Amino acid sequence: MTDEPDFDALFAVAQPVQARAYAPYSHFKVGAALLADDGAVYSGCNVENASYPVGVCAEAGAISAMIAGGGRAIRALLVLGDGDALVTPCGGCRQRIREFAAPETPIAIAGPNGIRARFSLAELLPASFGPDNLRR
Ligand code: THU
Repeated sequence: MTDEPDFDALFAVAQPVQARAYAPYSHFKVGAALLADDGAVYSGCNVENASYPVGVCAEAGAISAMIAGGGRAIRALLVLGDGDALVTPCGGCRQRIREFAAPETPIAIAGPNGIRARFSLAELLPASFGPDNLRR
């Protein structure tokens, strides 16, 4: 049994981070907050670039902050974005999350009014390739 993650706390962290996103091209601001194995919460926002493909997603920023801060595993992750459709992590970010999370790690998708949906990593990225696949 794992403890129920405090997604309300992650939402409270993600909100101001989303507001600080740098998204002058898409005008689509995203915030992400994660609880790491060291007990700390790390966050990130999307940072776009005039050379469009160079922009980075909010999840990638949160993972970088976790590694830089000393965390080594994701225990829970929340993604916050606007719009009608769920702001689920892009394919590349699902793989980035996979590197540091377990199949059952919960991922909450939130909008401005709170959490809208919840998935496990395995639901978002089934039959995934991860560090163990490199073992021979
Ligand atoms: N984006 C994220 O940061 N995370 C997601 O989960 C979905 C998309 C960003 C990338 C880009 O800056 C903008 O949202 C529009 O795609």
